[in-house]
Amino acid sequence: MEAILSARRYLIPFRGTLLPQIFTDTLVIGSGVAGLRAALAASEHGDVIMLCKRGREESNTHWAQGGIAAAVHSDDSPHSHAIDTLEAGAEFCDEGAVRTLTEDGPDAVRELQDWGMRFDADADGQLALGLEGGHSSQRILHANGDATGKELVRTLWERIRATPSIRVFESCFALDLLTPADHPGSPCMGAITHHRRYGLQMIWARATVLATGGAGMLWRETTNPPVATADGLAMAFRAGATLADLAFMQFHPTALYVAGASRALISEAVRGEGATLVDRNGFRFMEGVHDRAELAPRDIVSRAIIARLAETGEPYVSLDARTVPSFRQRFPGIWKVLSQFEIDPTTDLIPVRPAAHYMIGGVRTDADGRTSVPGLYCAGETACSGVNGANRLASNSLLEGLVFGRRAGNMCAEMRSTANAWHIAPPPAPASLVSNIPDSDRGLLDLEDVRSSLRSAMWRNAGISRTGARLADATEMFDFWSRYTLDKVFDDPLGWETQNMLLAGALITRSALWREESRGCHTRSDHLTRDASFAAHDLWTRGDEAPTLEPIQSPSMHPERAAD
Ligand code: FAD
Ligand code: SIN
Repeated sequence: MEAILSARRYLIPFRGTLLPQIFTDTLVIGSGVAGLRAALAASEHGDVIMLCKRGREESNTHWAQGGIAAAVHSDDSPHSHAIDTLEAGAEFCDEGAVRTLTEDGPDAVRELQDWGMRFDADADGQLALGLEGGHSSQRILHANGDATGKELVRTLWERIRATPSIRVFESCFALDLLTPADHPGSPCMGAITHHRRYGLQMIWARATVLATGGAGMLWRETTNPPVATADGLAMAFRAGATLADLAFMQFHPTALYVAGASRALISEAVRGEGATLVDRNGFRFMEGVHDRAELAPRDIVSRAIIARLAETGEPYVSLDARTVPSFRQRFPGIWKVLSQFEIDPTTDLIPVRPAAHYMIGGVRTDADGRTSVPGLYCAGETACSGVNGANRLASNSLLEGLVFGRRAGNMCAEMRSTANAWHIAPPPAPASLVSNIPDSDRGLLDLEDVRSSLRSAMWRNAGISRTGARLADATEMFDFWSRYTLDKVFDDPLGWETQNMLLAGALITRSALWREESRGCHTRSDHLTRDASFAAHDLWTRGDEAPTLEPIQSPSMHPERAAD
């Protein structure tokens, strides 16, 4: 346990003064919705460099389907949106963060419209609003049917291109955050990166925003694209930042289940348009489970599917979308995916099962994106701002990226203030940072095999239904794999990502093992009820041997709800 929690400070050895040096006011790591929005905000306070580890289109944001939740209709209100978010969050949301999210929502949408984002409209020219699980009213704005992410990314990139103070480095992998000393509290001064063409570089920044997205690739079944390898969690942890609530991974109930195909998402909006879930006997099992049936919060639907699969022995359940009006027009992207497998949703049932979808835990931040490391901010799926509680409400994440990305970007201005003397102009000098790591023999390692073993272990032992015994096995496996993988030095992203996945997996399983209760999307079949003694964020910081606890903000204001 100790070996993991006091993980090596840097992934690679280097001598800072021998590497190319680049200076900027703000470094944004990641170019999904959170990174893009943070970069735009930070550009109002100085120069910005924004990184993406592969191409611009490789992010969770790009693949978002259902839409953006915001209380824009006159019959709706941020208060009602907040209540739904709190209710889904299972008495675990920080209420202040939720209020910020829902109150800033309508403005964030107006801003996107001003910037040229084209949302779908109904026949009267009004914004077309969809319904998704856990929402008490129709408040999901979408674009091109089920291509909301692509339209959002297009809009934000256009803005980025029109902002000369933002430089974008593509195919530029951030390995580690730079801190002058190796102890928690040492400030972040940028990152060491590897550019596909230019190799290793030191990027020095007054403020650094981490927006590296999710961790879905840690599980064998996931809706996430290959970039979601938890790099941000791992590099923040190595730099001394505090992580929180890592047990909470949200499983989306309906990923396409066709042997050999990637787990393409079948949007919850399809259920919002009337699709139902049935087992092989045509039995609509969600009706007996929750009064909102298929539109219950995600954790409930995912668990019900898993229970049904266990009862029937089938590998999947079916989504019956045959009554969804104008399926092809409303969901053109999903239609296209299904047609590759000769599935016609107007006549055929769609085979689905849950898959890892959204990482709720992450780098602990306040409502302005500050982390426990001075100079390091975090937003989007990498962050744990407290808005998602123990189970995120559908379509709240694009909004979270917009709202908290903007706030984090704006906060970067504080790094120029006199209160932060260690960061004031001239830009931080290339301190003679040195990372010494002894040579290691990596000859016998098959990284693909390590990855696939860890992903299977996470799916089996830290999946939708967990037990203490299986989680304990998983932590032992991670410790074993880590002993001969984390001591190695790699020189490409496959190795670095695998090391990040191992570290993140080790932390996630520890958090899930520690949390001896069932709450939101964390289900322990050996502790089936919610337990008030675990109503606290579990915080993990490098060097500590066990989590410290932080109270939930304003739990008493949460609405009453029956235990899941
Ligand atoms: P991402 O969009 O994932 O961006 C991460 C960025 O970080 C990428 O640019 C990547 O290159 C970069 N990066 C990562 N590691 C490194 C590194 N080491 N160095 C440099 N760069 C790095 N949410 C909704 O609200 N509505 C929806 O309809 C919706 N649909 C979804 C559908 C799918 C299939 C998926 C997977 C998710 C969906 N979500 C949806 C969730 C939502 O899309 C994500 O939570 C959100 O987009 C995350 O944004 P982000 O900016 O935090 O990260
Ligand atoms: C979906 O379209 O079902 C995904 C929405 C989300 O993850 O919020």
